[in-house]
Amino acid sequence: MSHFQLQAQELSFTYPDGHQALQSVSFGICQGESVGIIGRNGAGKSTLLLHLNGILRATAGEVRVEDAAISTETVAQVRRTVGLIFQDSDDQLFMPTVFDDVAFGPTNMGLSLQEVRSRAEAALATVGVSHLADRLPYRLSGGEKRAVAIAGVLAMSPSVLVMDEPSDGLDPAARRRLINLLKGLDYTKIIASHDLDLVEDVCSRVLVMHHGRLEADGPPDVIFADKVLLDRCHLELPLSRQRL
Ligand SMILES: Nc1ncnc2c1ncn2[C@@H]1O[C@H](COP(=O)(O)OP(=O)(O)O)[C@@H](O)[C@H]1O
Ligand SMILES: [Mg+2]
Repeated sequence: MSHFQLQAQELSFTYPDGHQALQSVSFGICQGESVGIIGRNGAGKSTLLLHLNGILRATAGEVRVEDAAISTETVAQVRRTVGLIFQDSDDQLFMPTVFDDVAFGPTNMGLSLQEVRSRAEAALATVGVSHLADRLPYRLSGGEKRAVAIAGVLAMSPSVLVMDEPSDGLDPAARRRLINLLKGLDYTKIIASHDLDLVEDVCSRVLVMHHGRLEADGPPDVIFADKVLLDRCHLELPLSRQRL
């Protein structure tokens, strides 16, 4: 039994057009860790996240979730364990009301109406948007949509939360609320972001992707002090560390 909750082992992936987006990426994540994935545009962050719950399947190597390699047989269980929040909340919200959207996942899990209702209510309360339950999802602000998308995933009771660019498009106040929410969520978290301040604030470990490879893996203090590494990967320092 491995002590990792989630593991990538020499994971490689080539898109159908021949573009190799991941090259032999290996790491292990323990339960309760909060891990940021950073890298310039096109580094392979989103491609990597899409492997973590089996939306994309490895060309070579494998992803293991709670010791099971992701395969056609295990993918349904993997998706109960790993909840993925997409970069664009509009990809995740499609029901007529916010409540129905958050209830959609638990309903599909075959739970009783009462259980569905209590899970949806609890998830909306956790992200602080119970007051939006009867609203139309597509009419919400960007920050509200992101919160509802997170609630929809929490309602499925995953043990790992995977998020792609969660602060993308949020105004400063919504971004701050999101950061506080993420800090308070007691899950294993894997967050791909170009928002290095968010990563530094929320994560205790940082993976640096560059040209589809895992270039570095360490605590934020070490990664953000490595000027040579950041330059090589075309990354800036978090704003909080920049001195004029
Ligand atoms: N559907 C696709 N088909 C072919 N290439 C793709 C596709 N999606 C992404 N890529 C390429 O794979 C690489 C990694 O992309 P992505 O994982 O989206 O990077 P990031 O999220 O770090 O910006 C990029 O070079 C991108 O152009
Ligand atoms: Mg991306």
